[in-house]
Amino acid sequence: MPSVYIKTYGCQMNERDSETVAAQLVAKGYTLAPSEAGADVILLNTCSVRDAAEQKAIGKMQNLAAEMRKNRPDVVLGFMGCMAQSRGQQLIDKLPDVDLVIGTQKFHRTADYLDDILAGRQAKVVDIGEEQGSEATIREHILNGNTAEKSVTAFVSIMQGCNQYCTFCIVPYTRGEERSRTIPDIVSECRELVARGVKEITLLGQIVTSYGKRDVPIKEGKSGFVQLLEAVHEIEGLDRIRFTSPHPKGYGDDLVEAYGRLPKLVESAHIPVQSGSDRLLKIMHRGYTRERFLSIIDKLRRVRPRMGITTDIIVGFPGEAEADFEETLSLARAVEFDNAYIFKYSPRKDTPAAEMPEQLSKEIKEERNARLLQLVNEIAARRYEHYVGEQVQILVEGESRKNSARMMGRTRTNKIVVFDGSERHHGQLMDVKINRAGSFTLYGDPAIVNLD
Ligand code: 5AD
Repeated sequence: MPSVYIKTYGCQMNERDSETVAAQLVAKGYTLAPSEAGADVILLNTCSVRDAAEQKAIGKMQNLAAEMRKNRPDVVLGFMGCMAQSRGQQLIDKLPDVDLVIGTQKFHRTADYLDDILAGRQAKVVDIGEEQGSEATIREHILNGNTAEKSVTAFVSIMQGCNQYCTFCIVPYTRGEERSRTIPDIVSECRELVARGVKEITLLGQIVTSYGKRDVPIKEGKSGFVQLLEAVHEIEGLDRIRFTSPHPKGYGDDLVEAYGRLPKLVESAHIPVQSGSDRLLKIMHRGYTRERFLSIIDKLRRVRPRMGITTDIIVGFPGEAEADFEETLSLARAVEFDNAYIFKYSPRKDTPAAEMPEQLSKEIKEERNARLLQLVNEIAARRYEHYVGEQVQILVEGESRKNSARMMGRTRTNKIVVFDGSERHHGQLMDVKINRAGSFTLYGDPAIVNLD
């Protein structure tokens, strides 16, 4: 049977989509190739959030196409996901060696289309249509590809799309309108994963705080998302629940309170703030103020003082004045994020911000990026340093990526901990004593109970 290699760009949702496509192909008899070399089908699952991500995938495809034309002309090449959705047929016009373009609501058709192309029934396929119910087709998992290591963590997609229309963001155009899966459907997928040994589940969506807005009525003051968290929390054998990404606008007190009631909900929150300036938040169409964001953080820390908090920030949004940027710096100082992902504003097709007159120069973006990064790193280093000497619980995920002689796990606050361990620790919740903090990594030793 033909072998397939899928390369994924971008967010965790994309990772999850690739996993589903892989599972679907394996079910149809395809094998998964460990690398591009020798694969009969190469699929790039793409990201559109910034131009750099698109250019990376296009560059990769150009190289693949040149190589395959020369050496292996029968190899099938395809684009999937966000850039496939936003560019469609244009991709084949630009890169005629590409055989397949599959949008974000058509992942479940991948195997059929590949069958057609490989059997010669169709030369090229472009399918970027909308499809009702496609949010529930992302279900099958292939845990850890085809490696022998058992996965203890898994991502579960709970919804697709976003209706927020932030002025910088392409996601509503690439992922479509918000559509949520049902609570029983999500819970049954989580149960299957737990039965296969998964201990930690991350619930995924572009805007999880809008989960079930149209379909799940508020119950006893609890939003659909909080009701979902409660239902997943009931699953026996599941140890930890995470989710990403919430939107500050929908971060209600019911969600803050859920942290107080649901012990499996770990002390970790990724809450994108984008800017510390009220003026910019408004132009970005974010729907909250700096004060509101700070109050969410304050409430969360009251419920869970050790909460690990990370965020996304855009620098160089059109019209961002030095004073606006300084508001962002002061917000980063006030919150003390455990980490912040900083993005230089990148104009995206058909988004309002791309048409705004005061586009900033590359130099200003670079300069603000560097200043903010320095501050974020300083604060993060301090926050990681605080762990030294402490005993924390980790869930052991497997071998350390950088050093396979060591093991790695994550704290409840989502910090990576590397320690001397062995395969018998794999999948265990264990206590470690932290003895050193590196750059976004902690180093520890298994704690010996009662001898501390
Ligand atoms: N330019 C730069 N960064 C962007 N993001 C989204 N759109 C853009 C853009 N046009 C960032 C936001 C978002 C993260 C996933 O990507 O910070 O939270």
